Amino acid sequence: MRHDHLITATQLSRDDIEAVLDRAAEIADDPPEREAVLGLLFFEPSTRTKMSFDAAMKRLGGTTVDMGSVDSSSVKKGETLADTVRVVEGYADALVLRHPSEGAAEMASRFVDVPLVNAGDGAGQHPSQTLLDLYTIRENAGLDDLTVGIVGDLKYGRTVHSLASALTNFDARQHFISPESLQLPRSVRFDLHQEGAQVREHTDLDGILPELDVLYVTRIQRERFPDENEYRQVAGQYRITPETLDAAKDDLVVMHPLPRVDEISSDVDDLPQATYFEQAHNGVPVRMALLDMLLENAEDGAGGVSS
Ligand code: NCD
Repeated sequence: MRHDHLITATQLSRDDIEAVLDRAAEIADDPPEREAVLGLLFFEPSTRTKMSFDAAMKRLGGTTVDMGSVDSSSVKKGETLADTVRVVEGYADALVLRHPSEGAAEMASRFVDVPLVNAGDGAGQHPSQTLLDLYTIRENAGLDDLTVGIVGDLKYGRTVHSLASALTNFDARQHFISPESLQLPRSVRFDLHQEGAQVREHTDLDGILPELDVLYVTRIQRERFPDENEYRQVAGQYRITPETLDAAKDDLVVMHPLPRVDEISSDVDDLPQATYFEQAHNGVPVRMALLDMLLENAEDGAGGVSS
């Protein structure tokens, strides 16, 4: 299977995922040379995703051009996304786009010939985050016979939607823990069932915690709530503390895409289960591998994340 762009994790087969993770694992020792220019188009705040794509392109020997903030760009003058990507395509060999509207990356990709990576489209998808999440899981727990708990904002959390979809490629039982109002969107649940995923949904973490190999904690996506009162009702419901972990397996892997607000107390950070900073650092080798493969395929004129 070949891909010109990476828009959603549903595109990714097990072979695609393993090809990226394998290349990421060896890339630090033997980095390929890619003197390419990566265009960074972030219409929403970002620290990790933008900086790790930037670092990844530079470590490959390339460079980046950055639109900067929406306020300092021509978006302020009313330029459409389609026009912006068509222009920046002329300055770059690949594009990374984050945008508040679901579907924005898919729409933008139809206007460009260079590879485009969706770095988050509203409450939709965030597939490159999923690749680094899977890399982290593979390093710390393996990807076979796995029980994963995903807790927090399952409705608006795009990292959740992408991860859940990608995990259907592996022998993974998935437990989703959230307040009723933040359960998985119906479309995501439907896709998981179509894939035959082993899925259960809970409102309570305590009951399932002892079974988990991986606990993936997420931030309540405050910026996506239509009403601040609704946010306040659900904020702070599943706070992970050292005491919470007493009931878990000793080798539980605690992950979080970050930024965290108060979902994991800072005194968890020094415990061996805390894997979220390692996870964030894995963004660089994984995105190096992803960019290398997308650029290689674009050069060959065939397109593709896979072999
Ligand atoms: C996530 C995102 O932007 O979706 N952050 C990230 O890319 N690591 C998660 C979040 O913002 O809560």
